[in-house]
Amino acid sequence: MAFDGSLQVWMNGELVNWRESSAHISAHGLHYGSGVFEGIRCYDTGDGPAVFRLDDHIERLFASAATYGFDIPFTRGEMAEAVLETIRANGLRACYVRPVCWLGSNVLGLDAAGCPVEVAVLAWPWAALHGERSLTEGIRVTVSPWRKFPASALPPNAKACGHYTNSLLAVREARARGFDEAILLSTAGEVAEAAGENVFFVRNGRLVTNGSESPILLGITRDSVIRIARDLGIDVEVRSFQLSELREADEAFLTGTAAEIAPIAELDGEPISCTLPGPLTARIQEVFRLAVTARQPRYASWLAPVATLDVCAPAGARAK
Ligand SMILES: Cc1ncc(COP(=O)(O)O)c(C=O)c1O
Repeated sequence: MAFDGSLQVWMNGELVNWRESSAHISAHGLHYGSGVFEGIRCYDTGDGPAVFRLDDHIERLFASAATYGFDIPFTRGEMAEAVLETIRANGLRACYVRPVCWLGSNVLGLDAAGCPVEVAVLAWPWAALHGERSLTEGIRVTVSPWRKFPASALPPNAKACGHYTNSLLAVREARARGFDEAILLSTAGEVAEAAGENVFFVRNGRLVTNGSESPILLGITRDSVIRIARDLGIDVEVRSFQLSELREADEAFLTGTAAEIAPIAELDGEPISCTLPGPLTARIQEVFRLAVTARQPRYASWLAPVATLDVCAPAGARAK
């Protein structure tokens, strides 16, 4: 999706036109990927637009920043309000929201001495990452020749800009071979995650996904799916797993804010499930859809209404 030049972007506390929302050429973040970000979805519910698990995304943004020692010059409440304000300013209902914090311009030494932390929030309409049809027809994935970086090299649970060069290599290589998405193995040879999603599979009625012992981003969609599955009475095992288990699965799917819950139709050309989506995947997808559209009261606390959430004063009025 190409950006629409009429968008409003929240930058360092003010709304500016998309065309004027630029970062400096000498920004540290541009040269070294020194930044952290979030990917958040806002859904159109019967009661107006609502942001899914906003507080959890803001918490992860601050946790990622803390991992790298970046001091975000806004509070959590202000960042949450900035997300809502950006959606409102663009008159959006269902959309994707991207808060990003990066080291700005001062020096280009690797210690980043004196580089300010710059903050922006973008919001734009973005359908499911692999297309709406991916949710029913599934996607074709391949095992990447690129490995997921180990926790001894970079902290996988920080959503840091520079980490995504690993995903970029994997996705481009997979696309060049005609696949939709890449699955990366860990350096130990177990399944880590997809380039931008977590991996689940079903075997004999049990749902399996890996956890913090694996080099993965602990996805918020992953967490929601685990909770939904347990609430449905499905056994969930959180453990590391081998590629052979994924190949032999009855069903498998990827989860992520951008991709949502995307069934895996084929792994390296081999079909995974007889039906798409698989029966258990379909049950989880259905409850997830009800939850994000405010039709499942049990998960009401996962939604932050865009129009009414009164966190604090308008972001434009705050310090830069
Ligand atoms: C590498 C990676 N893993 C997993 C995920 C899924 O995380 P979430 O469900 O919080 O979007 C993402 C997307 O943010 C990601 O980039």
